[in-house]
Amino acid sequence: MTTPAQTSHRQKPLSTKDLVSAATLTASDLSMILDTALAFKADPAAYRGVLDGRSVAMLFEKPSLRTRVTFEVGTARLGGHPLYYDHGFERIGQRESVKDYARNLERWVHAIVLRTYSQRTIEEMAAVARVPVINALSDTDHPCQALADALTLVERFGRVEGLNVCYIGDGNNVCVSLMHVLCKLGGHVRVITPKGFAPPADAVAETHEFARLSGGSLTLTNDPAAVAGADAVYTDTWVSMHQEDQSDAREKLFVPYRVDAELMARAAGHAVFMHCLPAHRGEEVTDEVIDSPASVVYDQAENRLHAQNAVLIHTAGARPARLAR
Ligand code: CP
Ligand code: NVA
Repeated sequence: MTTPAQTSHRQKPLSTKDLVSAATLTASDLSMILDTALAFKADPAAYRGVLDGRSVAMLFEKPSLRTRVTFEVGTARLGGHPLYYDHGFERIGQRESVKDYARNLERWVHAIVLRTYSQRTIEEMAAVARVPVINALSDTDHPCQALADALTLVERFGRVEGLNVCYIGDGNNVCVSLMHVLCKLGGHVRVITPKGFAPPADAVAETHEFARLSGGSLTLTNDPAAVAGADAVYTDTWVSMHQEDQSDAREKLFVPYRVDAELMARAAGHAVFMHCLPAHRGEEVTDEVIDSPASVVYDQAENRLHAQNAVLIHTAGARPARLAR
């Protein structure tokens, strides 16, 4: 039987077919996703059947623990069928074009979740596929992570608006999506990186505009002391999955940006420590910090499931089960 919650949520698609980048979500898309994520987390049974009879294909060019498990478990909890396709053997588009991937997959499944080396692959797939395409991490973006992070902040602080969040380390995919989401929601984001490792200029420019519209702010600096007074301190690996050849050079440069107890002590007394995981203990974060009561990293990991289910509900779940021909 369809509950009123399911009926109303099915009727509310996001303003875009896809989740290619958090930059394409409106502030009201973000509020709707966060509200649904909180509602799903409180009462998952109310959403049972939202993906009834629908399949979600997950194509991953790179390894994953959290993203893979949460999309598989999440799809099943909504009554759908998750299909994991390990694409580590070659890039999507090599054996046949991305366009042909899209035109085949859309005949069988109701959403496509992609983890790729290149953001362009996700953009190309989304432009062709008539079913929603969801970015599960690329070289430039990790929107599903940022949605779970915003959910974690809302649970901890009751809001994102007005919060001071410091991201310290590499200006990478996780940093970019975090900036996008928090600045659209009125947060104040300080990004602290070594020289030469700031987030890409186009992402910075668009985020300044998001912050201008929301009343938030984005500040970039190279000074680790800028964590002073932060409500949350966030870091990620110094070497992402597409940068392994830069490991040695990066590790020396990033040491002053390690999150240890001394650095956390500069943040507000109530500050939380955040990390998307996987963590490299002893590199970007010490055991003392990640295992401390201030650490919310496993809440972030749990919230991947709830935030992504909200995305599935408002994309695949909000569209007709039959594909438009
Ligand atoms: N945070 C995150 O995306 O983790 P996985 O790489 O394990 O999916
Ligand atoms: N920045 C990391 C995130 C992993 C979840 C990477 O791209 O490898």
